Amino acid sequence: MKVFIKTYGCQMNVRDSEALAGMLTRSGAELTASEADADVMIFNTCSVRDQAERKAIGKITFMKKYKKLNPELIIGVIGCMAQNRGQELLDKISHLDFALGTGQLHRLTEVVEKIRRHRQQIALLEDSSEVLDAMGMHSNWQNSRPHTGMIAITRGCNRFCSYCIVPYVRGREISRKLSDIVDEAKMLAEQGVREVMLLGQNVAAYGCNGNINPPPANESPFGELLQEIARIDGIKRIRYTSPYPTFFTDKLIDIIASEPKICRNVHLPMQSGSDRILRSMNRQYTAASYLEIVNKLKNAIGEVTFSTDVIVGFPGETDEDFICTKNLMNEVGFDHAFIFKYSPRSGAKSAEWIDDVPQEVKEERNQILLKDLERRSIAGNLSCVGRTLEVMVDGVSPRNPERWSGRTSTARTVVFKYADGMKPGDLINVPIDRAGRVTLFGPGLVGADEEL
Ligand code: SAH
Ligand code: SF4
Ligand code: F3S
Repeated sequence: MKVFIKTYGCQMNVRDSEALAGMLTRSGAELTASEADADVMIFNTCSVRDQAERKAIGKITFMKKYKKLNPELIIGVIGCMAQNRGQELLDKISHLDFALGTGQLHRLTEVVEKIRRHRQQIALLEDSSEVLDAMGMHSNWQNSRPHTGMIAITRGCNRFCSYCIVPYVRGREISRKLSDIVDEAKMLAEQGVREVMLLGQNVAAYGCNGNINPPPANESPFGELLQEIARIDGIKRIRYTSPYPTFFTDKLIDIIASEPKICRNVHLPMQSGSDRILRSMNRQYTAASYLEIVNKLKNAIGEVTFSTDVIVGFPGETDEDFICTKNLMNEVGFDHAFIFKYSPRSGAKSAEWIDDVPQEVKEERNQILLKDLERRSIAGNLSCVGRTLEVMVDGVSPRNPERWSGRTSTARTVVFKYADGMKPGDLINVPIDRAGRVTLFGPGLVGADEEL
C-alpha cells in the first residue's frame, strides 16, 4: 500500500504528518511523493485563514481524476479543517472517503483498513486526549534536515484570541509528561539529531495546567523543561515556537540567558501595536508591556533576534492603530515576521464584527510592513560582517550545490565553502565576509546569485 501525504498549515501539522508517516510505515505501508502512484491520499489541513482552507479544498477536489483512474484509491482529509468542516466536506465531495479530526489522528491506520475492507465514508471528529501520547512517537522520514527534530510538547490552546479558530479545532491545551518529552529528545539525539524544535500553540505555558495566566515571576515549568533537554549531551541547540509573550517570567528569562544551547532567537507573536486592537483581539498585553518583555530579554541575553506574527486589517483598525503596529515593529527591530491580512473565521468571536478594512488597505499595510522588514533585515545582516559566527551546518545549499549553508543561533542563514569532513549538525565558526538581503556569506564566495 502506497501512501501520499500532503501537509498544509503550521509546524504542528508538519510534526503530526511526520508521526503519522511513522505509524503507517510501521504498519507496513510505503510512502510515496507521487500522487499518481498512491493507493491512499491524505491531506493534513489548516483552517487558520480562508485561503488555507480554499487551497486544500481545491486540491482535494482536483484529485477526483485519480479516483476515476483507480476506483480503489482512498482519499482522506485530516487535521484542523477536517475538525472544522469534516462532515460538510464528506457530504460535498463525493470522492472523499474519510475525515479525521485533530483528536483522532492516531486512528488513521485503523480507518484506512476499515475502508479497504468495506468501502464506506467515515467521519471521526470527537475530541480525545489519547492523541497526546499516541502522537509522541518519532520517525524522521520526510525531514530534509535529519540533524533536526520537532517535538510537540503541548496540544491545543486555551487562549481564545478573538480572531483565531485554533482553540476550536485543536481543543483544550494539554501538556505532555516531562519524562516522555525528555525520552523523546534522548531518542532523537541517539539517532543523530543535534537541534530540537519544541512545538505548541503556547509552548511557554507548558506545565501550567491550561491556566491562561502566567506563573509567578520566579517560576517557569517550560524553563525547567528547557534545562532538562539542555542536559542531553548530543543536543547542541534548542528552539521553540510559539511562546505567548506574558509567559516570559523572570525565571524563564534567567534560564534562557544562562543556557547557551537555547537559541538566541525568540519568535514572539505581537499581532498588533495598538492597545485598542490588542484588547479587542483578547491579547493579554499592551504595546508597553510587550516592549518591556522584549527589553528584559535583550538586557538579559545580550545578542538576540526577534521574529513575530502580525495581523493587518483587523476589524476597526484605523490608520492610527496601524501606525502603532509599524512603530512597535521598528522599536523591537524584528528582522523576520509573518504578516497576515485579517481573515474572518466563522466560529471565532471576531467573525461577529464587520470586516470593515477594505482588501486594498490590508494589502497596502502589508506592503508597508514588508518594506520596513526588508530594511531592518539588511541592516541586521550588515551588522554581522567582519565577525566570526558559530553556525550549525545544514548541508548543501539549496541554490548552489557547490556551497553549503547553515544557521546561527540567532536564526540567520549563512552560506560557506565546504571543508573536508564537514557534515550536517556540526557546529563551525564562519568569518562573515559579506551580507545579502537574507543571507550571510563566508570567505571566498563571489557573485550575488546565491541568496537563500
Ligand atoms: N499559537 C500561535 C499562532 C497560531 S496561528 C501563537 O499564538 O503565536 C499563526 C498566526 O496566524 C497567528 O499568530 C496570527 O498572526 C495568524 N492568524 C490567526 N488567525 C488569523 C485570522 N483569522 N486572520 C489572519 N491571521 C490570523
Ligand atoms: Fe490562536 Fe491565540 Fe491560541 Fe495563538 S494563542 S493559537 S493566536 S487563540
Ligand atoms: Fe492551521 Fe491548525 Fe496550525 S489551523 S495554523 S494547522 S493548528
